[in-house]
Amino acid sequence: MQKIDLILQRGQARTDTGLSFFETEVENLKAEILKLLRESKEYISGQRLCEEFEVSRTAVWKVINQLKEEGYHVEAVKNRGYRIVEIPDVISKEELESLLAGKTKWAGREIYYFPETDSTNIRAKQLAESGASHGTLVVADQQSAGRGRRGRGWVSPSGCSIYMSVLLKPSFLPSKAPMMTLVMAYSVTEALRAYTGLDVQIKWPNDVVLHGKKLVGILTEMSTEVDYINHVVIGVGINVNMDSFSGEIARTATSLRIESGKDMKRSNLIAEIMKRFEQDYEMYERTENLSGIRDAYNRLMVNCGREVRILGVQKPFQALALGINDSGELLVRKEDGSEEAVYAGEVSVRGVYGYV
Ligand code: BTN
Repeated sequence: MQKIDLILQRGQARTDTGLSFFETEVENLKAEILKLLRESKEYISGQRLCEEFEVSRTAVWKVINQLKEEGYHVEAVKNRGYRIVEIPDVISKEELESLLAGKTKWAGREIYYFPETDSTNIRAKQLAESGASHGTLVVADQQSAGRGRRGRGWVSPSGCSIYMSVLLKPSFLPSKAPMMTLVMAYSVTEALRAYTGLDVQIKWPNDVVLHGKKLVGILTEMSTEVDYINHVVIGVGINVNMDSFSGEIARTATSLRIESGKDMKRSNLIAEIMKRFEQDYEMYERTENLSGIRDAYNRLMVNCGREVRILGVQKPFQALALGINDSGELLVRKEDGSEEAVYAGEVSVRGVYGYV
């Protein structure tokens, strides 16, 4: 008797995810079948799927039906097999797993998806406490208590944006941690540029902007001892398919859809970010500074070479932004010609005439 049928017969014992063993097996199988179908332009026969994954026809059929119910357009042709014709903008654990399988070593190896949660950063911190691994990815379709920087909230409606948090367990000193936010800003910017072809830029230190408006916000939270990092959670919110913004943020926020007129597939974007972040983070981990990405970061920095206002210091001042150094500080030239390195934790930067 084949594996999945056997498990089905064993009854409905629950795993620690709350799913029965059978449900967990079907989920794993779904991610694998999805990956195979996504990567093939040809039809794949039911027989081949059964052999490849050592499962029964019933299990394959069940997975294909679930995919259809979730909005995947799967074409089934007699004597030829199955082919995916269209993939909807769904985020699910299996969709993300099928996109990341074999593509990363540690980033997104463990994935948690919530249709709705309070905040993916809160979830990731709780998972860290219960032993989740370095690189764990937490994603939600909707957040009821999305958190922004400086105690602000993050508007998080369903079906149109990305809310993701990555859990990290670094071995370096707590003083090195703030640079991780810049690494993520860089990875997200590169991923969005590659995936959309749009001129996405970084507003130092870690906002990502498009056409002068904020597209992405990043919130890093950390649990440390004096000389030891327990864990770091980097939360990323991306405005993807939102049509409009209301209230205060309407002036400064934008989405990929507003700027491009196109809908984007959120899961593909998340996968692209995770692949790039793994590489960029490893580079940063080797050097314990930003030397490996500094020049590229500066080329993408919207406020590089511009007059900016440095706020949050006792006496706000105006200066020319020159770019970041290896520690992620912003080098600025003041009006008297002197140069200074400003630290992101202490200040915020505005364009002289507006947000950038
Ligand atoms: C900012 O204020 O610019 C940072 C916003 C960060 C929002 C993201 S959405 C995913 C993660 N979960 C949260 O509650 N916040 C971050």
